[in-house]
Amino acid sequence: MFPVAGLGTRFLPATKAVPKELLPVVDRPLIQYAVQEAVEAGVDTLVFVIGPEKRAILKHFERDPGLEELLASAGKDELLARVRDILPDGVSAHATVQEQALGLGHAVLCAREFVPADEHFAVLLPDDMVLNHGPGALAQLVAVHEATGGGVIGMERIDPSLTGSYGIAEVAEDDSGYSRIASLVEKPPPEEAPSNLGVVGRYVLDGRLFDTLETIGKGAGGEIQLTDGIAQFMGEHPVYAQALEGKRYDCGSRMGMLQANIDYALEVDDLRDRLLAHLNSALARQR
Ligand code: UTP
Repeated sequence: MFPVAGLGTRFLPATKAVPKELLPVVDRPLIQYAVQEAVEAGVDTLVFVIGPEKRAILKHFERDPGLEELLASAGKDELLARVRDILPDGVSAHATVQEQALGLGHAVLCAREFVPADEHFAVLLPDDMVLNHGPGALAQLVAVHEATGGGVIGMERIDPSLTGSYGIAEVAEDDSGYSRIASLVEKPPPEEAPSNLGVVGRYVLDGRLFDTLETIGKGAGGEIQLTDGIAQFMGEHPVYAQALEGKRYDCGSRMGMLQANIDYALEVDDLRDRLLAHLNSALARQR
């Protein structure tokens, strides 16, 4: 499940006509990285929770016969493959609309009809990117889910002064040897934060969570918060914290987006050397 119905105000005016999730890191939009990560973790059914003005996100994953024909007749085979393989064979995509951006918990609830109550499902927020040379972020969560049978949330140790921007967890190891979440609080000020373990936008959740989400009201920022729903639900059903391996980028912020663009470009063979040369000369100019 990809909740992509937010307003993306931090990127205005770029997000006035283009959804935040279609902003690129190097040459692919954020949402494509998230879909690729999900597919690599074994997901074969995608659900996009889009806002009323965000149909372009779906278009990105639809085939475009006209464009494909043009590229084929021009002999641009590599580009053709890049365009055609955006959604791998055997993966289906669905969409539902969140009419108003009432919060992430509400967005997840909008996709309820796609998730059987007795199954677990994954939630990925595309603006959190995790660059790892080993298993992707969601695959790391799936491994913990398979070992414990419980829900799992991706976490990162954050600077303690920044707890007011994150969901924060307190954890304790249980019999399974994994870190079970004992308490979860949305955006606490540093003096009230139970730890500096911050929620990253990757979740494996129990389908029964929807019943809880139906009942919680507005929380921090006047929004229906996913964290509040999970906090209530996990009293009876275990939810584990998985500190993610890899480097995380908050691409919902300008600085995170810039850092991701540099670091992902440094992973691309035909960009790496030229980008390093440019960065070196930029550094020299600043000195
Ligand atoms: P953010 O907190 O980053 O909010 O949402 P935003 O609206 O996207 O961006 P800003 O803060 O205004 O710049 C985190 C994720 O939750 C989704 C967003 O699309 C994003 O993927 N979301 C948030 C929804 O789908 N619906 C909501 O009501 C709120």
